[in-house]
Amino acid sequence: MLIPNSSFEVLQDTKPDNVSLPAFMVSATRGFLPRMNPIVTLPPEFDAVETLLQAMPVQTLSGEPGLLATGQLGDAVLQELPDLTEQVEKYCDDLPMMNALYRDYSFLASAFLLEPCHMRFIKGEPYGLGKAFLPAQLSRPIVRCAELCGFKPFMEYAGSYALFNYRLHDPDGGMDYFNLRLIRAFEHGLDPSSSEAGFVLVHVEMVKNSGGLVDGAMASLSALADNTKNNTIAGRASLNAGLQTILAAARRVNDVMEGMWTKSKPRSYTSFRTFIFGITSQSMFPHGVVYEDINDGQPLNFRGESGANDSMIPLLDNFLQITMPDTPLTEILRDFREYRPSNHRQFLVEVKKASLELGLRDFALAVDVDARAGTVSEEEMQLVKESRLLWLELLNQVRDFRWRHWCFAREYILKQTSHPTATGGSPIVTWLPNQLQAVMEEMTEIYEGVGGRAGPMDLGAGCRDIMDLVERQRLTLRKEVDKYCQERGVGSD
Ligand code: HEM
Repeated sequence: MLIPNSSFEVLQDTKPDNVSLPAFMVSATRGFLPRMNPIVTLPPEFDAVETLLQAMPVQTLSGEPGLLATGQLGDAVLQELPDLTEQVEKYCDDLPMMNALYRDYSFLASAFLLEPCHMRFIKGEPYGLGKAFLPAQLSRPIVRCAELCGFKPFMEYAGSYALFNYRLHDPDGGMDYFNLRLIRAFEHGLDPSSSEAGFVLVHVEMVKNSGGLVDGAMASLSALADNTKNNTIAGRASLNAGLQTILAAARRVNDVMEGMWTKSKPRSYTSFRTFIFGITSQSMFPHGVVYEDINDGQPLNFRGESGANDSMIPLLDNFLQITMPDTPLTEILRDFREYRPSNHRQFLVEVKKASLELGLRDFALAVDVDARAGTVSEEEMQLVKESRLLWLELLNQVRDFRWRHWCFAREYILKQTSHPTATGGSPIVTWLPNQLQAVMEEMTEIYEGVGGRAGPMDLGAGCRDIMDLVERQRLTLRKEVDKYCQERGVGSD
């Protein structure tokens, strides 16, 4: 299935056994999850990597304290890990295996660099400085794996920490949440009831529902691209069916997200978070990190693992043509969009392009309907109202996601620590509100623009309730951000 006006193919069959394709592509079935369940076991040449990774977590699988509990990971890497770059090369035609190697090397690299910060954190001290140097036995293989998979040579959300880091406990038990386990963890994550496991697995469970977002987006864009249906009642009915599919999936995603509160506890987040910080815009790495034998000894900088690199919300942002303010904070949003599998990145670009070229927003909101007054049938008018309502309801799902997310940031981070930047390096008080306010403003503007509150184009009581909530949240958010800015002495943009 091709995105209209583009040669980008969205898979129906994810071809799980094909090893020449990258692990991460986009499909209407698995959405943004990898094409197959992640590879758990590395080939025997990498036993030294496996042994270190099993011994690494603060709490190992057996429940015993691991190397990170006592600050011994760094020395173990230097003493026990040979440079296996040549062995990596043997698997260069097997991209899913390369992805597993990338995941595992990136876990070791982050643990190596951030271990000193963790040791200070558990003593209640500030993070101080991380290690500024990655030895060749980590730098060379991670750079090569990243190159072959299309990632940055540092831990990423999809390729490493979250979406390529789950396994099925019972191989026949399917992807039910309680059948999922982490493959790698830093802290207590190998225990499935831990907050680290809950944090990662809620992400996976949400993305499990992303197939409907992709499927619905494709159906909606195709409805507009089909010249036989263009601007007809049948075309609008097909568009509405596509929007419905997205809406149903977005509601499931948000329902799963709500489960974060119980599966991962706000007070536990800051302790495993130490290991997922990046090496850009972070006080622990003021000059980045030198990767031995790479980049002529000049330091490198990469953002850390962050849900900001997930593709579900960017898909909705691009599909719905949500306008973001022209601020330095929006620049960070753009930068985050670089840190994801290259196929996802390209998909997002093509969706944005198709949505704009096909005039999706204008058609869905029927901006020309007043000009055509008198010639519009009652049937078409009903369908127009439905499209407008669906559009606002979709924006409302994006708002719901971002509002809950702001609540997460408040409870899991702002109330627990004064460290000013998030794992991806964004300013913690102002960045999430930048996008959340933009969505709410867009909703208000559209609702007023289409006269949805009363009169002939009234969008109904349900929509009024949504918009009343939006008005309240806009004020609440502004007050909360002002309060945190004042308390922490930061500017609001
Ligand atoms: C305890 C739960 C969570 C916390 C504390 C949290 C924290 C954060 C923070 C601080 C950011 C700012 C970017 C940065 O890292 O520098 C961020 C961004 C983001 N996170 Fe999360 N996150 C959580 C759960 C999730 C989940 C479950 C998802 C689902 C995919 C997710 C998706 C995102 C997205 C899409 C963004 C970008 C927001 C935007 O575009 O406005 N996060 N997260």
